[in-house]
Amino acid sequence: MLTNKKIILGICGGIAVYKAVELLRLLTKAGAEVHVIMTSAAQEFVTPLTFQTLSSNPVHTELFNLIAEREIGHISLADQADLFIIVPATANVIGKIAAGIADDLLTTTVMATKAPVLFAPAMNVNMFTNPIYRENEQKLRRLGYLFVDPIRGTLACGWEGEGKLAAPETIFEGASAALTEKDLLNRTIMITAGPTREEIDPVRYISNHSSGKMGYALARAASRRGANVFLISGPTTLAEPCGVQFVNVTSADDMHREVMARVDECDVIIKAAAVADYRPLVRSATKIKKKADSATIELVRNRDILAELGGIEHRPFLVGFAAETDALAINAEKKLREKNLDMIVANDVSQVDAGFNVETNRALLLFRDGRCIDCGLMSKDQLAGTILDHVAARLMAD
Ligand code: PMT
Repeated sequence: MLTNKKIILGICGGIAVYKAVELLRLLTKAGAEVHVIMTSAAQEFVTPLTFQTLSSNPVHTELFNLIAEREIGHISLADQADLFIIVPATANVIGKIAAGIADDLLTTTVMATKAPVLFAPAMNVNMFTNPIYRENEQKLRRLGYLFVDPIRGTLACGWEGEGKLAAPETIFEGASAALTEKDLLNRTIMITAGPTREEIDPVRYISNHSSGKMGYALARAASRRGANVFLISGPTTLAEPCGVQFVNVTSADDMHREVMARVDECDVIIKAAAVADYRPLVRSATKIKKKADSATIELVRNRDILAELGGIEHRPFLVGFAAETDALAINAEKKLREKNLDMIVANDVSQVDAGFNVETNRALLLFRDGRCIDCGLMSKDQLAGTILDHVAARLMAD
């Protein structure tokens, strides 16, 4: 996802510096080439060796390094960067950059770069709410600098409040968004994800193996590309993606209600959820006792949300999914026509590396005009990107 991207990771001195190690790991795992600059205060908390080992690149610490500065190292670092991330960004470093002070390698390189700069601040709550800090942050925001806001929590100093460094995953998401073209800006996209649960009694339900991974990958990718995203999710164990409007649902009926309430606001709806086709006719208010050797539960059909969306006269661009175990293209094409969709993503869920609860997928993309594209084996993140490429191209053409 970040392949061939050069990222400068500026590390300042704060107790949250250990989280920067995890961020570095996420960035390199996503394919980024990371070069680390540490302030002298940062080196009081973690040694450069940790960052050097994990980045596989020398760590830069000194402005007046005779070897690096033979080639004017700070300017070359600044020029090469696609993105600059400062974490944990202290009140001191933010204040210096806002004031145009460049008195060490980190602040000098920030001053010299034309790359986007993303701050992930972390500090004591009273420093965070201090009007001097607030003014510095607002000045930098006005000038186009990016921020991943700190969260509320118990701070290392013992105080409770805002100022705790955002999770490494949230900062990673902010970095990915900063490096992504905003081709879905001002578009509103609703994505459904995960399974639904249809209750039999207070302790049992009917459901399926959907983990939500495909739908959440779409939500993250759409948000990075600038869309306003509604994520309507059945029960999953995944973390709520940042930057999306998240709505938790349980049953197909809940999902129907939440989807229909937002249709008019949407430019695009993508239905990756595995909605139960049936629910028990009766939900027992008490736990059903075992009696006979066999038992029968009468099921009734749930409403088909996607088909209902397809029947709306002036509807958003509609993308369905088809989970098939045989005759993939034929069955998916039938759903595309019958549900009146613009596009359908057909995945062969009989394959071990595709469909439910795996990191990868294999999909055919089928369109209204008869085109069919075989995406082959991809990560769900990559497939989400490919689906949104087609959505963005179509929106652009309209
Ligand atoms: O969540 P993961 O573990 O990552 O797995 C991803 C996935 C396999 C769930 C996903 O890729 C997928 O295929 N989602 C659709 C699953 C499904 O319900 O397929 P279907 O062929 O039964 O339904 C066709 C379409 O109608 C789907 O877009 C579905 O959301 C929609 N539908 C179905 C029934 C219903 N009552 N209402 C609906 O809107």
